[in-house]
Amino acid sequence: MKELNAFELNENMISTIGRDWMLVTAGTEESFNTMTVSWGGVGILWNKPVVYTFIRPQRYTYEFLENSEYYTMSAYPNEYRNALKLCGTRSGRDINKPLETGLTPVFDEKAPYFEQARLVLVCRKLYVQDLCESGATDKSILANYHGDDYHRMYVSEIVKVLVNE
Ligand SMILES: Cc1cc2nc3c(=O)[nH]c(=O)nc-3n(C[C@H](O)[C@H](O)[C@H](O)COP(=O)(O)O)c2cc1C
Repeated sequence: MKELNAFELNENMISTIGRDWMLVTAGTEESFNTMTVSWGGVGILWNKPVVYTFIRPQRYTYEFLENSEYYTMSAYPNEYRNALKLCGTRSGRDINKPLETGLTPVFDEKAPYFEQARLVLVCRKLYVQDLCESGATDKSILANYHGDDYHRMYVSEIVKVLVNE
């Protein structure tokens, strides 16, 4: 894969995350997990290129994110849509996602990603905060929550961008 400067990333990340979806992957070669996300964003904070990732605490992937300094966000060609659906509807607690999807894990960066990715953001956690009811200036967003399942927001530096040419 070719390495890009984050400022050279030339695609609509609202569409990549929101419509195409991405995988969030964390852990080690011995033990890792991945899940689909369609909420999040990229931007600049503290003069660094960052991603904003939102993970509910009941996800198995949450445990890996909590225990890792690094994780990846990766995007895939459309032919992997069903793989991303599976990673977003089944838990790694119950199934082996690489085995079920055919996605091939790669461990040559500080967090795993999959060989089939067309774009990989290697992310280093900078800041976490749990969303909460009192933060909602528009209470209608609270319809997304049922009980104590507020997303944890991870603000993470994009330390590397890899693209498949
Ligand atoms: C299209 C799509 C987008 C999703 N986006 C998110 C998200 O942004 N944050 C989140 O916590 N869960 C999201 N999910 C749900 C998780 O991917 C899902 O619960 C997954 O099975 C968790 O897997 P795990 O238990 O192996 O971590 C999404 C699911 C789908 C299908």
